[in-house]
Amino acid sequence: MRIDILTILPDLLQGPFSDSIMQRAQDKGHLELHIHNIRDYTEDKHNRIDDYQYGGGAGMVMSIQPISAVIEKLTAERNYDEIIYMTPDGELLEQSTCNELSLLKNIIILCGHYKGVDERIREHYITREISIGSYVLSGGELGAAVLVDSIVRLVPGVLNDETSALTDSFQDQLLSPPVYTRPPEFNGWKVPEVLLSGDFGKIEQWREEKALERTKQRRPDLLEE
Ligand code: ADE
Repeated sequence: MRIDILTILPDLLQGPFSDSIMQRAQDKGHLELHIHNIRDYTEDKHNRIDDYQYGGGAGMVMSIQPISAVIEKLTAERNYDEIIYMTPDGELLEQSTCNELSLLKNIIILCGHYKGVDERIREHYITREISIGSYVLSGGELGAAVLVDSIVRLVPGVLNDETSALTDSFQDQLLSPPVYTRPPEFNGWKVPEVLLSGDFGKIEQWREEKALERTKQRRPDLLEE
């Protein structure tokens, strides 16, 4: 899968992708990540990428020209399945969205800043708008990092068996059950007996019960869907 991220803060995006699973996904060829600095595409003589909003009002707006230039360049080179804009007024990111996007071949992700991007970008280029939660970030970069991480870990081959995505919370509309590792007792705090029993039928049943109990307590909304 190829992902192109368009940003005015490329350095902010280096960290999340240069460690652990995201780095391995790139090393193994499952993820081809390209980070583009929007400022490199401006034709403004002062290198500006934003401007005052028409009609007045506080806050700058990201200009159409440099964003259009980078999108036009990329889409001339290959077909993109989605051109996504990270914005607090987009659709809320859900596991089902991640599953869907993980099947795509090429996507562009545009990170907004300030008051947002010129609306004509959204009208003419953007195919999908995504929010990572009902709060406002300083820019779309952290949202893009969350989105890419949640998608790429679902691409077949990225996770090994031990970290398989199939047993994640949300994958079956349930939260994950509690997990334990050695030692069996610490400070007098014991691991549930059933997990040490070796009876895999019982263990599976216990996990299902706990997953359901946890979901009922913490996220009853998931059970209503
Ligand atoms: N940009 C600013 N806030 C955001 C959010 N909640 N989700 C995605 N992009 C954003």
